[in-house]
Amino acid sequence: MKEFVAQLMFVKSAMKDIAKTNNLTDKGCSSKTNRSHVCVTNNYLLETSVYPREPQSLKELRALSSNHPRAAMGTAPDAGQFMALILKLINAKKTIEIGVFTGYSLLLTALTIPDDGKENIPYKNVQFSQIIAIDVDKSAYEIGLPVIEKAGVKHKINFIDLRIEELLTLLSSMLIKSITQNYHERLLKLLKPGGVVIYDNTLWGGTVAMPEDWVPERRLETRSAAIEFNKYLAADARVQISQVPLGDGITMCRRL
Ligand SMILES: C[S@@+](CC[C@H](N)C(=O)[O-])C[C@H]1O[C@@H](n2cnc3c(N)ncnc32)[C@H](O)[C@@H]1O
Repeated sequence: MKEFVAQLMFVKSAMKDIAKTNNLTDKGCSSKTNRSHVCVTNNYLLETSVYPREPQSLKELRALSSNHPRAAMGTAPDAGQFMALILKLINAKKTIEIGVFTGYSLLLTALTIPDDGKENIPYKNVQFSQIIAIDVDKSAYEIGLPVIEKAGVKHKINFIDLRIEELLTLLSSMLIKSITQNYHERLLKLLKPGGVVIYDNTLWGGTVAMPEDWVPERRLETRSAAIEFNKYLAADARVQISQVPLGDGITMCRRL
C-alpha cells in the first residue's frame, strides 16, 4: 500500500470515564461537579465548530449508536472532525481502521477520502478496498451500515470480521501494552515517510494523568498500558507526534 493512514482504537471494553468525557456536553456544565475548564471548552467547541459542520449522515450514525450499551466507545465528533482534516491535509487515499464499533470514524473516513474509481479485485479471497476496516464485533458495524450505504460510500470499505491478534498472529493472552506496541511496529513498516497513524483514546478517560489512587482497581492495568504506550510514542524517534486533548485524546504520528 503506497498511501494510507492507519487508525487504531485501543482495544478494550468501554470505560465509564470515556462516557463521562463524551457526555459532558449533553449534561451541560452548570452543576458544581461539571463546572470546569474542560467541560465548558469542550461544550463550546462542539456547539461552535463541530456540530454545525458535522455531515448529516454522521449525525444519524451517532444518533443510531447512542442507545448502544457501549455507546461511549464511539469516536467523539470533535476528534472525528480533526481526523477528517488530517486525512485531507495528507491527501490520504487508503486507510486501515482497527476498531470500527458502529462506524463513526469509518464513515467520516469514507466521506473524506477521494473515490479512486478502481475496481476492487479480490486477492486470496481478501478484497483490498480503499479502506480496510477490522473489528471483532460485526454486529456493532451492522448498526451503522445502513447509514454508510445511504451515504453512498460502502464501496470504499472492506469490513473484516476479525480479532486483530489473529491478523498479527499474536497471542490473545498478551498484554494490551504489547499488543498496542506491536500494532505500532507493524504499522510503521507499512507507512512511507509522511504517512500518518492516528491513535484514539490515548488519554484513556483522563486516567493517564490521574494519581493512581483516583483510578478504580479494575482500570489500573489498562491505565498503565496506556501510560506506557504514550511514553513509547514520545520516545519513538521514527515519528513526529502530537497528542491532542480532543474527545478521549488522539495522538497523531507522522512517519519521518
Ligand atoms: C473504541 S471502539 C472504536 C470506535 C470507532 N472507531 C468509532 O468511530 O466509533 C473499539 C472497537 O475495537 C473492537 N475490538 C476490541 N478488541 C478487538 C480485537 N482484539 N480485535 C479487533 N477488534 C477489537 C471493539 O469491538 C470496538 O468496536
